[in-house]
Amino acid sequence: MSNPAATVARAETPSPATVAADYLGRVLKARVYDVAVESPLERAPRLSKRLGALVLLKREDQQPVFSFKLRGAFNKIASLDAEARARGVICASAGNHAQGVALAARRLGLRAVIVMPTTTPRIKTQAVADLGAEIVLHGDDFDAAHAHARDLECAQGLSFVHPFDDPEVIAGQGTIAMEILRQHHGEEIGCIVVPVGGGGLIAGVAAYAKALYPHIRIIGVESEDAPTLHHALAAGRPLRLPRVGVFADGTAVRQVGNETFRVAQALVDEVVLVSTDEICAAIQDIFEDTRVVAEPSGALAVAGLKRWLQNNDCGERACVAVVSGANMNFDRLRHVAERADLGADREMLLAVTIPEQQGSFRRFCQLIGTRAVTEFNYRYCDAGAAHIFVGLAIDPGSDDRAEVVHAIRAAGLKVEDLSRNEMAKLHVRYMVGGKAAQISDERLFRFEFPERRGALLKFLDAIGTDWNISLFHYRNHGSDHGRVLAGIQVPTDTASAFAQHLADLGYPHAEETTNPAYRAFL
Ligand SMILES: Cc1ncc(COP(=O)(O)O)c(C=O)c1O
Repeated sequence: MSNPAATVARAETPSPATVAADYLGRVLKARVYDVAVESPLERAPRLSKRLGALVLLKREDQQPVFSFKLRGAFNKIASLDAEARARGVICASAGNHAQGVALAARRLGLRAVIVMPTTTPRIKTQAVADLGAEIVLHGDDFDAAHAHARDLECAQGLSFVHPFDDPEVIAGQGTIAMEILRQHHGEEIGCIVVPVGGGGLIAGVAAYAKALYPHIRIIGVESEDAPTLHHALAAGRPLRLPRVGVFADGTAVRQVGNETFRVAQALVDEVVLVSTDEICAAIQDIFEDTRVVAEPSGALAVAGLKRWLQNNDCGERACVAVVSGANMNFDRLRHVAERADLGADREMLLAVTIPEQQGSFRRFCQLIGTRAVTEFNYRYCDAGAAHIFVGLAIDPGSDDRAEVVHAIRAAGLKVEDLSRNEMAKLHVRYMVGGKAAQISDERLFRFEFPERRGALLKFLDAIGTDWNISLFHYRNHGSDHGRVLAGIQVPTDTASAFAQHLADLGYPHAEETTNPAYRAFL
């Protein structure tokens, strides 16, 4: 559903043309093809038909390390003088940048040191080690790894390769726009949609495209829980967000760069925000057109294009979406598959209260009619009522959602649409069980903690034994963060001590005690 608040118009800045022209030569001179390939720009027939627009996908998932990041990394490293090259390069990253730097350094025969948080899964450290880089594991999170990389840079005279905030990196990423404009005539392109993390990719693409064809709209896409450029453009300067969501891990950056912000402020037309479910739906869209599974950040542009086309169009001109990477963690596929239908408005989740009397369950099923049921949980509540948690298949773009809710209400039943209720989708659907009547003072919280071996135990130790845990749900989503739903008994006279304990714990959390899904099902 379109959300006008999710877009920010570009703030006026002086001479966008100059900003773009400054980068034109740099992009033309960029060295990337020692490692990168010219990736295809392909028509997406199913998406095009569905969206009523010509959709072209720039297939950066086809690069040797399955993302575009090697372009900027190689151009930066190739620009170093002989002395710097002899000393070697360093970066901090657990993701695509690490692989880009490792591959670029290997091609040039240089030493590469990659600093990664100690929590990095082995599959990622192995991928980088296989490319011949030295791995240094340091710290619990990216900030600690980054600080350590900066120390090693000084101590060992290594050259730091920034993931985005460097003109040579930006210029390397800009070669994507150079290829797009060779592969499809600029006059016939209406917009280029680009995922945004630190902003290197969008800065390079915007600069090159706008220098030659100022009419091409450059649309950035961020996840709703990592709106870094969106906030920076609204504030007129790069801001540091206290935390960002990590589902789209490639773009989970807390602050855009200074140089990338300067370019984006001058040249980016709009930033669109999309939900996790929309990203999952876009992964499915890309799969259906290409049979490739994009990683969440890699699918952001398609999710953003779909959202943007709800209120805009490019007429006869093509819409280009950059599919930026396919380094998908296999464990996540279950979560992606579960959410794709919700994100594409092909499924709705409802909580319905029905009278606990003979025949009422059947009457409810009659209300649903012949609609496909994707999930069904029924739970006796008390002598008077029962709760139903139900998933229904609906037709995207139809009135199905409103019609179902209306029919259930018209039958005198209480109904709540839980399709956008994150707590219900993450936890409640797996644990519908009924109320524990004798539990007093129960409050409900969602927590996140960095996922690693023993993390759950560490989390429980941190919660401590001063307050009783009365409900607990954890399910591994194959992401970097574990997510827990916990009911905790907090007698009123200990409320302020408990609040202090939560603050000291430092785990990101949100209280869910008033969530309707909790009241109905747990
Ligand atoms: C797959 C993928 N897409 C998009 C981005 C965002 O790029 P940038 O940080 O240059 O905005 C990244 C960054 O690593 C990425 O790995």
